[in-house]
Amino acid sequence: MKIGIIGSGRIGATLARLLVGVGHEVAVANRHTPETLRALHEELGSALHPSSVEEAARFGEVVVVSIPFHSINELPAPALAGKIVVDSNNYYPQRDGQVPALDRDETTSTELLADHLVGARVVKAFNTMYFVTLAQSGDRAKDESERLSLFVAGDDEEAKGIVAGVIEEIGFAAIDTGTLAVGGRRQQPGSDIYNTELTGAEARRVLGQ
Ligand SMILES: NC(=O)c1ccc[n+]([C@@H]2O[C@H](COP(=O)([O-])OP(=O)(O)OC[C@H]3O[C@@H](n4cnc5c(N)ncnc54)[C@H](OP(=O)(O)O)[C@@H]3O)[C@@H](O)[C@H]2O)c1
Repeated sequence: MKIGIIGSGRIGATLARLLVGVGHEVAVANRHTPETLRALHEELGSALHPSSVEEAARFGEVVVVSIPFHSINELPAPALAGKIVVDSNNYYPQRDGQVPALDRDETTSTELLADHLVGARVVKAFNTMYFVTLAQSGDRAKDESERLSLFVAGDDEEAKGIVAGVIEEIGFAAIDTGTLAVGGRRQQPGSDIYNTELTGAEARRVLGQ
């Protein structure tokens, strides 16, 4: 599959390695020029395409967004319309500034992203796991119930299924937490499944599934 990644930091670069590792073509962008991605390009070879944000957005059937939450309104909504957009972001007021609607729990960070990206098929995933665990813990040899869990929330069942398939390819259990409103809250910082290493079986128990 062609996958775009916007953000080449801890999560973005980790996902680039994992996704190229299982055979995807990946276009990666950051805030700077594609030349700043030379080291990652040399490491991962021709399946890794250093790109501008606009290019990565247009390249991917699936586009992962791994940037600080406070930058989401800089994303190019027209280029992402119709795309499956995977939101790995979290709202941390110390980093992102206070957002009253989130502080009052009137909405979620991923719904705010979806509001900006009109027409995108937004799925929340990859936001609950520390990047080192993400880099090291996928294990395709294990049964799903024994793999560590990554979570998917979204309102578009087909998009969520495609993202779940990618999660399984890189060796994790994909656990559906529900809609963006319900599952998005279940995946937020401070929740029972956030930054906790749970197998598929344990995650289902915690979520009452
Ligand atoms: N670190 C973790 O373990 C972890 C785990 C789960 C979720 N998360 C969440 O995932 C998101 C990314 O975290 P991270 O730790 O990977 O961050 P990071 O290491 O600080 O990397 C952030 C990346 O975003 C890029 N960026 C910032 N603003 C941008 C913009 N407007 N357009 C394009 N790219 C932009 C930066 O570009 P430059 O390189 O050019 O500066 C950088 O490559 C955050 O929301 C974080 O809360 C992090």
